[in-house]
Amino acid sequence: MRKKITVIGAGHVGATLAQRIAEKELGNVVLLDIPESEGMPAGKALDILESGPVYGYDSRVLGTTEYPPTAHSDIVIITAGLPRKPGMSRDDLLNTNAKIVKSVSEQVAKHSPNAIVIVVSNPLDAMTYVAYHTTRFSKNKVIGMAGVLDSSRMAAFVAEALDVSVQDVQPMVMGGHGDTMVPITRYTTVAGVPVTELIPKEKLEGIVQRTRDGGAEIVKLLKTGSAYYAPSASVVAMVESILKDKKRIFPCAAYCEGEYDVKGLFLGVPVKLGANGIEQIIQLNLTKDERSSLQKSIDSVKELTESLKRLNII
Ligand code: APR
Repeated sequence: MRKKITVIGAGHVGATLAQRIAEKELGNVVLLDIPESEGMPAGKALDILESGPVYGYDSRVLGTTEYPPTAHSDIVIITAGLPRKPGMSRDDLLNTNAKIVKSVSEQVAKHSPNAIVIVVSNPLDAMTYVAYHTTRFSKNKVIGMAGVLDSSRMAAFVAEALDVSVQDVQPMVMGGHGDTMVPITRYTTVAGVPVTELIPKEKLEGIVQRTRDGGAEIVKLLKTGSAYYAPSASVVAMVESILKDKKRIFPCAAYCEGEYDVKGLFLGVPVKLGANGIEQIIQLNLTKDERSSLQKSIDSVKELTESLKRLNII
């Protein structure tokens, strides 16, 4: 039987994601938005469905503003929320998006109690915590999408700098999805060769900084809204690894209980993604400097997660 994938939020990320999932025939898609959006999700879904005969895909795509059609989804992806505006940090979004993600997660738990949930809404690590706390799903079944995107940005810049195929670049970005993320050059390789041996230090530092600012760079260019092509592509890679039980290793926001000395927080760490969601958190050895950068990131995610308590979200 075909898998069922629900995408909540039919905006830029959600609609592009629905399109990509259908084009890859990963399953049938339900695209949901708020009742105020009226025919918008249904219109976008129909438009994607009608592309099927041209592209040759048989995925069914349905748009709705109600939860019953989402029932018994295998995967639910939460993209609901406001995107960042220029000059706005991901953290400014905390309060508004936390309330949205909380109410969405209640519905997900009710209608798709066995689903694996992938969270995309920002600030990512805190929103993934809200989904985990609200659904009460087991920790392997609630995953945040950030590291795949951040790594993809880094890989794009490395490939460009060396004029090589992106397929030969293996990037590694850890930590929270924010200004304190930790691109790890020591574990970034090109056809197995550490990138530190291929790109001069100063240039590599530029790439690291551009990776950290990757989201903001696009927000600044777009002026309204934030990135959605690379974010949706990143989610598709995760969905594919789960549904095909590929067990690919990706950096994702995972609930840590002691790994990397983090307890009770979602943080971007390398994980194995398979049919059971997060099947393993991979522990990397870090140098003193890497560890101290990661600690800054942990502290910032911790602060955000703590503020969810003050706001009575969790
Ligand atoms: N339930 C369902 N959908 C909702 C809800 C809700 N409670 N609240 C808002 N939405 C919908 C909006 O109506 C809108 O259609 O979420 C959609 C968000 O779409 P965009 O505004 O286009 O934002 P997008 O660029 O898709 O980003 C969504 O992903 O990358 C993150 O930072 C980004 O948090 C943002 C999210």
